[in-house]
Amino acid sequence: MITENIQKLLNEQFIRELFSANLYLSICSYFEDQELDGFANFFRLQAQEEMQHAMKQFDYIHQVDGKVNMTAVDAPQTEFSSILEAFELSLAHEQLVTKSIHQIVKTAIEEGDFATHAFLQWFVTEQVEEEALIKNILRKLKMVGDNSSALYLLNDELSRRKPAPAE
Ligand SMILES: [Fe+2]
Ligand SMILES: [Fe+2]
Repeated sequence: MITENIQKLLNEQFIRELFSANLYLSICSYFEDQELDGFANFFRLQAQEEMQHAMKQFDYIHQVDGKVNMTAVDAPQTEFSSILEAFELSLAHEQLVTKSIHQIVKTAIEEGDFATHAFLQWFVTEQVEEEALIKNILRKLKMVGDNSSALYLLNDELSRRKPAPAE
C-alpha cells in the first residue's frame, strides 16, 4: 500500500514519462522531416524507452494497490532551430526528470516507504545513463560543428542504434 502523497507523486511521474515520449517523438519528427534518419532513429528509440518507463510506473502503482489517474499531457515543443538545440533541450528535460525522481526518492525515505524507494532505484540509475548518453552526443555534435561529412558520419552512427532489451 502506498500513501496518497506517494501515489500522487508516482502518478505525476507516470505522466511525465508520457510527456518525455511525446517530446522525443516530436524531435524524431523534426529529424524525419530533414531526412536525418540516424538522428530520427535515436529519438524514436528514446521515445519507445520513455513509454516503457511510463508503463513501469503504471504497473508499480497497481502492484501496490494504488490507482492511476490519467490527466492531460502537456503539448511538447514542435519547432527546433537546430540539431544542437534539439539535443540541448533533451538534456535539459532529462535533468528535470532526474530532479523529480530524486524528489520522490526523498519523500519515500521520509515516509519510510522502502518498497517505493527500492522501485525507484532502477530509475535513479537509468537517469545517470540517459544524461551521460545525451552529453556524449552533444560533445560529438560540438566537435562536428559545420562539417557536413562529420555530420553524415554521426547520423550514420546513430542510425545503427538498436532498441535496448526491455528490463
Ligand atoms: Fe524516462
Ligand atoms: Fe529519459
